[in-house]
Amino acid sequence: MKKENIYILGIESSCDDTSAAVLCNNTVLSNVVANQDIHSEYGGVVPELASRAHQQNIVPVVDLALKKAGITKGQLHAIAFTRGPGLMGSLLVGTSFAKSLAFGLKIPLIDVNHMQAHILAHFIKDKQQEVPPFPFLALTISGGHTQIVKVSNYFDMEVLGETIDDAVGEAYDKSGKILGLGYPAGPEIDRRAKLGNPKAFKFTKPKVAGLDFSFSGLKTAILYFIQRETKENPDFVKENLNDICASIQYTIIGILMDKLKLAVKQTGIKHIAIGGGVSANSGIREALKTREQKFGWKTYIPKFEFTTDNAAMIGIVGYLKYLEGDFSDFNVIASARLKI
Ligand code: KG4
Ligand code: ZN
Repeated sequence: MKKENIYILGIESSCDDTSAAVLCNNTVLSNVVANQDIHSEYGGVVPELASRAHQQNIVPVVDLALKKAGITKGQLHAIAFTRGPGLMGSLLVGTSFAKSLAFGLKIPLIDVNHMQAHILAHFIKDKQQEVPPFPFLALTISGGHTQIVKVSNYFDMEVLGETIDDAVGEAYDKSGKILGLGYPAGPEIDRRAKLGNPKAFKFTKPKVAGLDFSFSGLKTAILYFIQRETKENPDFVKENLNDICASIQYTIIGILMDKLKLAVKQTGIKHIAIGGGVSANSGIREALKTREQKFGWKTYIPKFEFTTDNAAMIGIVGYLKYLEGDFSDFNVIASARLKI
């Protein structure tokens, strides 16, 4: 007997991207993301502006996702939305919209944990990508998160370590701000790092117990270093920008790889899946490749459009929960600090 096709609408609005996606089973039919350029003027996400932009974007973005998928809303089986973690004002827009639409269409509502979604994005069907086998370790690195998670099954996850202050993407963006680079600075630091000497300047790595991370000390160390050097030579940053970027990147990669190595040692698991915007980083990808050869790790990186914030990853979780009949009550509320 032919299996029925399940159509899921995914909605993501946890931070500064408004996104809607339509999946047919585990295949993505459309994945529309509206970025909010407004924040670049402020050097970071302004929560109030983010929620206003979500409010403006959500209807056209969902409409376009349905059009691109070539289906009507009447064909949807369920609506999945990001419940948290994220910015409360942003989450409320997606949550309210998803509830109203599901209620109007009389179809199930499915709440999704954004961090689980970053990890389960690896299960979106893609001929070019291998799926990590259970159990695996997931490293989620973005402007909002830095976590190492042991994934024993789709919904059996244990956070082994996470940042106690800034996320790794923030370390990139805040360092970039000190250097006078635009927001977000991660891609620019990455580009310049390839042209510089990673050992030109040394920044000490934070000492944090176990598998937790800390990045705020690095930002302060960079700030003091730049203040000191520019006192001697006002053109220090301009003259050494590529070397500074390479040295910052080298330090950040060192921190991430040290913790991954420890996580592999503690768990004996060598399958490592990464996600989040920072996984686009060329240095991190190279470092993982080296460790595949050196330590026998096997690493998994999904397509770029599924590593940054997107609704396709919300849709795949929606599909997996739909199969289990795991639906939400309409009383469900957004949760800014939702845990895995
Ligand atoms: O996942 P994402 O799009 O949004 C969230 O923060 O959730 O990640 C954005 C972060 C920003 O901090 C940005 O600077 C960083 O990812 N980023 C990078 C690179 N591309 C994006 N960081 C380092 N190297 C990159 N190539
Ligand atoms: Zn995210």
